[in-house]
Amino acid sequence: MTDCDFGKTDRKGVVPLSFPQNFLDELTARSDIVDVVGNYVQLTRRGTNLFGLCPFHSEKTGSFSVSPDKQIYYCFGCKKGGGVINFIMEEENLSFPDAVRFLAKRANMEVPEEEGDREAGRRRQRLLDLNRDAARFYHQMLQQPEGRAVQDYLDRRQIKKATAVNFGLGASLDRWDALITAMTHKGYTKAELLSAGLAVQNKNGGIYDKFRNRLMFPVIDVRGDVVAFGGRVLDKSEPKYMNSSETPVYSKRRELYALNLAKKSKRPNIILCEGNIDVVTLHQAGFDNAVASMGTALTQEQTRLLSRYTKELVLCYDNDNAGKIATERALQILNNSEFAVRVLQLPNRRMDDGTMAKQDADDFIKNFGSGAFERLLSGSENGIEFRLAQTAGKYDLTDDQQRLGYAEEVSALLAGLESPVERDIYTVRAAEAAKLTPEAMRLEVQRAFKRRLSKEKRARERRELNPTMELQPKVRAMHYTNVRSAMAEEGVLRLLLLDDSLFPAELPLREDEFSSPLLGKVFSLLWQQKEQGSAPRLTSLAGELSGEEMSHMTNLCQKPESVANGRQALTDYITVIRGEAEKRAGAGLVDPLLAVTEKFKDQKKSNGGKQHG
Ligand code: CTP
Ligand code: MN
Repeated sequence: MTDCDFGKTDRKGVVPLSFPQNFLDELTARSDIVDVVGNYVQLTRRGTNLFGLCPFHSEKTGSFSVSPDKQIYYCFGCKKGGGVINFIMEEENLSFPDAVRFLAKRANMEVPEEEGDREAGRRRQRLLDLNRDAARFYHQMLQQPEGRAVQDYLDRRQIKKATAVNFGLGASLDRWDALITAMTHKGYTKAELLSAGLAVQNKNGGIYDKFRNRLMFPVIDVRGDVVAFGGRVLDKSEPKYMNSSETPVYSKRRELYALNLAKKSKRPNIILCEGNIDVVTLHQAGFDNAVASMGTALTQEQTRLLSRYTKELVLCYDNDNAGKIATERALQILNNSEFAVRVLQLPNRRMDDGTMAKQDADDFIKNFGSGAFERLLSGSENGIEFRLAQTAGKYDLTDDQQRLGYAEEVSALLAGLESPVERDIYTVRAAEAAKLTPEAMRLEVQRAFKRRLSKEKRARERRELNPTMELQPKVRAMHYTNVRSAMAEEGVLRLLLLDDSLFPAELPLREDEFSSPLLGKVFSLLWQQKEQGSAPRLTSLAGELSGEEMSHMTNLCQKPESVANGRQALTDYITVIRGEAEKRAGAGLVDPLLAVTEKFKDQKKSNGGKQHG
């Protein structure tokens, strides 16, 4: 599987930490991470830690760990980690203050609210109210004479009244200020209209309606809030769709169109389409389990959302080139996930003049009816069948030379399957398709499988020989400029978190002596906690660090560190950090290459005594 994506939206609403420290301390003390995570993930004990299937990326074997001692979680697969508040932020898709409120409610604690938080919460709610009122307005316009063009369009696309109501479809008018006027009458400000992405500012500072003369699709999240809009033109003009920009209440990688409806479906799976129109048509035809990723590739966040509602996904993208690429990408994201995945291939349609026409789900239902779609759905192929068929399509299997090419390409594909049984079943299928003997095909697949294993081994060895890559944080902005110092800085932080009594009463290191700004910042935040009389904990930094930063911090907490020689280790670390800081101060910049090679020597030396497995 690919990496979990740490997008820009990872830091949900930058809200400064404004809860009193002692309140957060008590909250985290009363929210045991094992209990909280246990509500979402089935955990089993292995040694001092508990393990389970990571809720943040798709996997079949558990690489998600929870440490009751450190009160943190960390996934060795997707490298996400943090304390109990981060967990709730990620899992419930909440901002820091909302996650705190969520946990406080659970722990039966009263939240000391600050004006700033209440204000942010109010602003969010205002945007949601505005979106809802806008959706109502667009929907009402469908009944009005001014909305006639959109209603005619719906009729042309055979979308019934009841369906339009079910989806809350609407009409934006062919005017520059229809929505703005209606919403300002209701008391919303221009700033709010801009912030919701419903209005756009021109060069002179005036504003106008973003959506005009379009069929409006409100995007409604699983809680039932209107979070965004898509608007389709009524003719062939471009752009065909306009969508809401990212706003404080909308992140497109976290939403799926119509999941608010599909989550209530009685059908056993969820159908993923490309287009809003496809979804509307499918629901109308009785497939109320269809959703759309609104023209973007399926994201990790979306699969997580889906996993709350189903264990089986059916990919039903358009049968054009873009659709095939989207299918392949989605299969990659879902590879080795806990989902059963199938691909529903829409056939091309033979036209009267003999040419073949592409069709999407909407066209198919209109051409062949819902019974035919139901048959496609029950006969849909799994991911590997789809890929085999794709590959077969590229070769002329009556030509010997091309059969060889096919066998080679297909065996690389089959070698990627983890299960030997699955590998064998599809090896036989592939042999049949190319009219080869199963034995010959098996040999070919075995060879490819061995190649794959040795390639993986080589990659592992390369990593082990060159650990600096592994030592670096995943996100470029946090990259260490001085690895030698950074390794020691990490050690200081680990010790501080393990046992702060190892530290002297007065500040042993200044923040600016740290080579890594992140590590320096975390150090002084933890030191503040210590000075305020609480044990330094990462957990309560959830409001100060981004998700990526927190994940990096929990990652470095996974490295072994012993308190037995803690005092000596601390002295050694501080010596290294001071030395490097002095070099920096003296010589301007330290030669980064030199720093790396020295780290090698040094790490070998210092590892001996301190580390235990
Ligand atoms: N899309 C978009 N911007 C575009 C084109 C498409 O955001 N310029 C998104 C829309 O969410 C759209 C989806 O990608 O629903 C799929 O695109 P397409 O198949 O072109 O749209 P349909 O909704 O299927 O519309 P139609 O059947 O009328 O072609
Ligand atoms: Mn389409």
